[in-house]
Formats: sequence, structure tokens, C-alpha cells
Amino acid sequence: MPTSTRSDLLLKRSLAAVWHPCTQMKQHEWLPLVSVARGEGCWLYDLDGRRYLDAISSWWVNLFGHCNPRINAALRAQLDSLEHVLLAGFSHEPVVELSERLARATGGALGHCFYASDGASAVEIALKMSFHYWRNRGRPAKMRFASLAGSYHGETLGALAVTDVALFKDTYAPLTMASSQVPSPDWRLAGEGESARDYAVRCAAALEQHLQSHHAETAAFIVEPLVQGATGMAMYDAEYLRRAREICDRYAVHLIADEIMTGFGRTGTFFAFEQAGITPDFLCLSKGLTGGYLPLSVVMTREAVYQAFYDDAVARAFLHSHSYTGNALACRAALATLDIFEQDNIIEVNKAKTAALTAAARAVAQHPRVRHFRNTGMIWAFEVETKDPLFARRFFGRALERELLLRPLGNTVYFMPPYVLSEEEGELLAARTADILDALPARDDAS
Ligand SMILES: Cc1ncc(COP(=O)(O)O)c(C=O)c1O
Repeated sequence: MPTSTRSDLLLKRSLAAVWHPCTQMKQHEWLPLVSVARGEGCWLYDLDGRRYLDAISSWWVNLFGHCNPRINAALRAQLDSLEHVLLAGFSHEPVVELSERLARATGGALGHCFYASDGASAVEIALKMSFHYWRNRGRPAKMRFASLAGSYHGETLGALAVTDVALFKDTYAPLTMASSQVPSPDWRLAGEGESARDYAVRCAAALEQHLQSHHAETAAFIVEPLVQGATGMAMYDAEYLRRAREICDRYAVHLIADEIMTGFGRTGTFFAFEQAGITPDFLCLSKGLTGGYLPLSVVMTREAVYQAFYDDAVARAFLHSHSYTGNALACRAALATLDIFEQDNIIEVNKAKTAALTAAARAVAQHPRVRHFRNTGMIWAFEVETKDPLFARRFFGRALERELLLRPLGNTVYFMPPYVLSEEEGELLAARTADILDALPARDDAS
């Protein structure tokens, strides 16, 4: 059977049997669906042998490449001893070691780890824990949450309640609890002549104004530190976080850092909040936690929060669980990921990678169709001037034709490559992106 037929056949079966995420399935009548046979490093290979540079780390999860030999070896070894056991009433070496090492990564400030599977379930846990903390402390009226305009925290109903991206929220808004949104410090929204920092200070003042009026009923303020991802890679000054920490302290409101995307070196430091010199009350992690291998998420919190639940009364405990909480294989993948960070000095090494890709992307940054080219750590983003309502889908297709996996958010194109991206691969990514921009129709509203 010719190889092209193998791919066609699989895709036909996929479209018939698999309801793909975040997709209007009818668009697959013209939008390519890609079969993936294997991955290696930054590259994905389809059943026909075509390759694609995974410039978005497979939805921001992959850190050290596909089929990383070191993570593979750790998982193979774990398979021979324990795949999974329930975590209520039981424990195991990988989950204990992972919790200890993650706590050390926060300087010991967040010493209690509660596990789940996906990012959204971590957000649910942080919201519930914050609410329950205040209830256990005799303040049950603190049951509301605030988040930034344009924030994205996942799509289960609780996480969606604090999400503010119309595309994902509007349809289901009637099902979600009410929450408040405060102005985003996204520097693109700064006034004429206003610096990113000054704008961040102005937005922090708006947060303060909100909490001044609503602190009595607000349990927590949840924030994506430094970069708001799904709204379109909105980047902002760390001063906002520093002030948000002070304001939350002043009004007895928890600060939840959703580092599901920004954690594990994405913004240039191990955690983004480090750049503001603060520590949140709750830290949500997932995605890169397992190097992009297995679904695992965790909520880390302080001793004071933990103590509010530690009691003889069962009802004061955090009675929340998921079947796969603390899965041993996922924890082992996470430990192997942390090993690579330490052994290869990744945070330092990435600084040179950031500089190299920024330099390689100069033609993209200066392209006449590009606006707001920006970078934070291992994330690059820019807007493309276009009137095409289907720009994102079409750009995705054009990128595939040039061996790139790029998946714009609206008219925002971004690079979020695995950290194993070589200089040559970075140059290829930048040059081919510039080619796609060059080839865009002059008026691409109907192409
Ligand atoms: C900041 C942030 N929070 C939460 C989530 C939800 O994570 P998951 O898709 O694993 O549920 C995401 C996913 O993109 C995210 O970027």
C-alpha cells in the first residue's frame, strides 16, 4: 500500500470517530488534519514521511523535544515498578520526591502539593481551596474571584468562570459563576507615551480600587504571571505582580498564580513570579511539568493554608480527588524533566537561545505586515495586519506547507518552541515565517 494512502485512510477514520478539541469539525473539509507517526526533538513526522517543526511545543507542553531519550528511559524504568496507585491512603516515591523538589523550587514557601491531571483541574482546585480556606477561617462571604481582562484559565466550568476570552466563554457563560475582571496590564494597551511599567502601575491601581470595594466578598485574584497566553500572548511588566501581591495582602485576598503556561522556564526564570520578587498563595502548574509527556497538574500552597484544613472535623478537610491524582508515571516524567533542568543548566542556556532566535527573527519583526513584535523568555509573538476572519486557519495551512507547526491565536502569531531548538532550527523557523508573511495576499480578506 503506498504510504500516502495510509495517511489518508487514518485521517478519514479520525474524522469519522474522533471529535477533535477546539475545532469546528466542518472546517476540516478544507483545513488539513495531520497524521503524526512519530516525533523526534522539535520535529513531528507524518505517516507519509513529511516533517513539521513543532514551533508551539504541542500546545505549550513540550520542553525537551519529542521522544526525549532521558525522559523515555525514566518512564521505562518506572513502568517496571509501579504504573499507578490511588493517592488517598497511599503514597509512592515519585510523588514524594516530586513534591519535595517542587517545594524547593519555590524556596520552601509553597510546601504542600495537591495533584490533578490537567491545567483546568488545577485551577478548579485553587479556587475551591481558596474559598474553603476563608470558610474554615470564619469568612464564608469570601466566595467571589477576580481575574484579568482577557485571562485564560481553562475550560471546565469553574476555570471558565474566571476566563475572559469571548470565543471560549460566551456560549457557556450562563453556566458559570459570576466573576470580576480588572484591566489587563498588557503593554499594547498603554496610552500614547506611557511606558509598560507606568501602564502596569495604572492597572494595579484599578485592581486596588476593585478590591477596596469588593474585598469582603473576594476570596482570590487569579493571574497568569507576565504573559497572558490564550488571549494572544499579552505581555506585561513585572511591576504589576509586585503591586498585586501588596494589594492582595492589604485586602486579605489570595493571589493565585496560574503558571500552567508560564512555569518551567517559559518566561526566562523557572517561575514567572520570580521576576517580581514575590510568592503567590497558590501556584498552579501543568503543561511543562512532565516535559510534555503525560497529563499532570499540581496546586502548591503555603503552610498557613494547609493548617486551615488540618482538623479533627472531616468537613474542614479538602475533600477533592481525581482518579489519577499523583499518577506514578507522570510524576516520574516530571522528575526526569527536573533532572534535565538541573543537569543542563537550562535557565542559563535558554538565555543564549532567546537572543539567537530574537536575532534570527529580525526580518519578521521588521516585516511591513507585522505589529507589536515582542518577546518574553522563550515566547515570541506578533500581530499580522489582516482583514481575513479565517487568518489563523489559513496561516496554519500555509505554515504546514513550509514544514512549520504554527497555530495563530486570531491574528497573533507566536513561537513557543521546545527548549531543544537548535540555532539552525531557529533560523529555519524565522526564515520560513518571513516567507509566509511575504506570500500573504496584499488584501487577504477573501483569499
Ligand atoms: C494559563 C493557563 N491556564 C490553564 C490552562 C488550562 O490547561 P488545560 O488545557 O491543561 O486544562 C491553560 C491552557 O492553555 C493555560 O494556558
